[in-house]
Amino acid sequence: MSVRFTIEAHPSPVSRARRAEILQDPKFGQYFTDHMARVVWTEDDGWGDAAIVPLAPVPLHPAAAVLHYAQEIFEGMKAYRHPDGSVWTFRPEANAERFARSARRLALPELPADVFLESVTQLVRADRDWVPGEGEQSLYLRPFMFASEAFLGVRPAAEVTYMVIASPVGPYFSGGVQPVSIWLSDRYTRAGRGGTGAAKCGGNYAASLAPMREAAEHGCDQVCFLDATEGRYVEELGGMNLYFVTRDGRLVTPELGTILEGVTRASVITLAKDLGLDIEERRVDIGEWQEGARTGEIREVFACGTGAVVTPVGRLVWEGGEVTAPDTAAEDSVTMRLRRRLVDLQFGRAEDPYGWMR
Ligand code: COI
Repeated sequence: MSVRFTIEAHPSPVSRARRAEILQDPKFGQYFTDHMARVVWTEDDGWGDAAIVPLAPVPLHPAAAVLHYAQEIFEGMKAYRHPDGSVWTFRPEANAERFARSARRLALPELPADVFLESVTQLVRADRDWVPGEGEQSLYLRPFMFASEAFLGVRPAAEVTYMVIASPVGPYFSGGVQPVSIWLSDRYTRAGRGGTGAAKCGGNYAASLAPMREAAEHGCDQVCFLDATEGRYVEELGGMNLYFVTRDGRLVTPELGTILEGVTRASVITLAKDLGLDIEERRVDIGEWQEGARTGEIREVFACGTGAVVTPVGRLVWEGGEVTAPDTAAEDSVTMRLRRRLVDLQFGRAEDPYGWMR
């Protein structure tokens, strides 16, 4: 399907000097670029009205279904400035595919992949001056889709709005690439069999906020969820996948099913195989982490995601105990080698043998 985007470009309301100041230290998700992409779907006419328009608040009827039943999905991806000044995205097709899978789970219409890719390309082109050029800063892209029909019955909405906004970002965690601490939740779970755990929908993240608050109360940066059936298998963090490196050089990660199928997670598997590591995607008992980190059987733990990139995990804390994997943040750790390999590709400092950059 081909949808042509009209471009309603406008001069930036942010002065050049102010933009330069923001790009010096953009933080995460705090500042936004000048434009947004928008495409509207109706049951009668399908996808249409595709446009790049000035960033502005979205008028919504108070009965819009998203405000009541959370029929909403989103994606997270980044654009990177390479040393020659060109701007690249990382595996956007993978985000387009996951967006379609999430749409199916939330009974939203599937956005054709070419429209998804075009929306991102056109927005990045309109706002290219907002792509940072320093260090590991990038332009975070947030495609999302929500039920905009005003109707209070519970059924899939007959009008849906798709948008993309962009935000220059630095590291997700304010401490940068420092090990983060994890609170192990035994009160809350994230996803059950047949639920929405594998979809990237707002409700999953809303449900992580109370456990995240509990984590903060225990001095931790993130929360780790266990499976909802037996309460013993590691699933994922509030918004990131998890990896473990064993003493004999295996890379272990929770299997897919009720967790988010991360694009970074999949990329790490490919990079790790090429570094000669054996990969195990399987159930990981929480005792294996607790006991393994104590005995040194588990040498490293890290989290990964578009926002988090690859972030070393320091302490795992639970009611009555804590443990730290010994080697996580060492410069020559597997975690840091995988991180360097990934960001070197993304920032154009190394050749891309996988054809991931667009
Ligand atoms: C991302 O990594 O892109 C996400 O959507 C997760 C969120 C914690 C920022």
